[in-house]
Amino acid sequence: MISDRDLYLMAKKALKNAYAPFSKFTVGAALLSETGEVFTGVNVENSSLGATICAERTAFVKAVSEGSQKFKTIAVVSGEGAVLPCGICRQFMFEFGDDLRIVTGDDADNLKVYGIKDLLPEGFRLTL
Ligand code: THU
Repeated sequence: MISDRDLYLMAKKALKNAYAPFSKFTVGAALLSETGEVFTGVNVENSSLGATICAERTAFVKAVSEGSQKFKTIAVVSGEGAVLPCGICRQFMFEFGDDLRIVTGDDADNLKVYGIKDLLPEGFRLTL
């Protein structure tokens, strides 16, 4: 059973792999699937700044690519401490469910937990 604290520490460990030469703002994420797998992610910046991908989306893209589409919790942390997902990441994560939990904090003993619906109350879903 992976706790919020465990997940946060995994996100923090991933920070060292962040590629943020432009902003210097490193971000790490750790995404827990419903089956108990963890997918980490970091931000990967680019000389063409708009091509940058955030840590949260990196983790989701890795997970979906490996066959996971149901998730419980994502922990996210920056090199500066707590960080909340950007608007694009909120929408990206909302795609995969209403119940995702988002954990962040300045350290493992001071975690804050949000629901995706708190961060994005009326997210977009394409209904065909
Ligand atoms: N960033 C993330 O990776 N996740 C967030 O939640 C906020 C922003 C990245 C994008 C960019 O590389 C850097 O942080 C500064 O915006």
